[in-house]
Amino acid sequence: MRSYPEMELDRLLSRGRFVGDLTEQVLGLAGLQPGMRVLDVGCGSGDVAFVAARLVGPDGTVIGVDRDPAAIARARQRASLDNVRFLAADAAGLDLDVPIDAVVGRQFLMHLADPEAVLRHLRGLLAPGGLMAFHEPDWTGAGAHPQCPLVELTLDRIRETLRRTGADPRAGLRLRRTLGDAGLAHPRAILGARVEGGPDSLVYAELVATTRDLLGDMERTGVAAPGEVAVETLAARLRAEVVSTGATVTSAHFIGAWGNST
Ligand SMILES: C[S@@+](CC[C@H](N)C(=O)[O-])C[C@H]1O[C@@H](n2cnc3c(N)ncnc32)[C@H](O)[C@@H]1O
Repeated sequence: MRSYPEMELDRLLSRGRFVGDLTEQVLGLAGLQPGMRVLDVGCGSGDVAFVAARLVGPDGTVIGVDRDPAAIARARQRASLDNVRFLAADAAGLDLDVPIDAVVGRQFLMHLADPEAVLRHLRGLLAPGGLMAFHEPDWTGAGAHPQCPLVELTLDRIRETLRRTGADPRAGLRLRRTLGDAGLAHPRAILGARVEGGPDSLVYAELVATTRDLLGDMERTGVAAPGEVAVETLAARLRAEVVSTGATVTSAHFIGAWGNST
């Protein structure tokens, strides 16, 4: 996976605001408790680590790990909590001195060629009975009602680019099974999404941020011709289309799944 430039980190922050409340719900249901020691894998600029830090409180600790040093630098810059720290490392070979109580992650497994193998490795870092909780998208769930051609085109480009670069746009739908295959007992899962519309919604900025992140790959893989996306004006055009049709836009679905190690 390529390195994440500043623009991508900005996207992660926007994504954090957009789905952060859903992630918090998943981590709460999964059983994150005050005092726990938590590992956030593929932490990016730290949004999930910060949500976890709120849940474990001052007596708990959170370690965010990402293989991209730029993401880790940004996460460290943002960290204002004593109980969170960040490490630049590959989660697939990670070793820690002390067993942890929970491994969490968001939009991480969707990028891995063999998520099950990485989960099996991470399971080995857990204390007995420790938990794993992940939050991954299903981009095929996103859409507008009534249908909006530009929203659909934007979503099609995102989904196709993810496919062509080896990521799984439906990773969320495999998540429960992936956790089970990695040896977690009785994984459970829920699905959530933002349901948006009107002039002030964050959904336009969110779709543009994801498009910007993928733009190089989009043009390289032939999903869009160079310049065709006109990303600078995309948010305004999406907003105008949705507002003029009174449409409701459903974001990517986010599936949260969790289970305990035996
Ligand atoms: C789409 S970002 C998600 C960031 C964050 N979890 C969030 O939801 O805001 C995926 C992150 O996974 C990281 N990543 C991918 N493979 C990794 C690996 N094997 N070990 C550690 N980090 C990895 C990338 O560097 C990137 O920051």
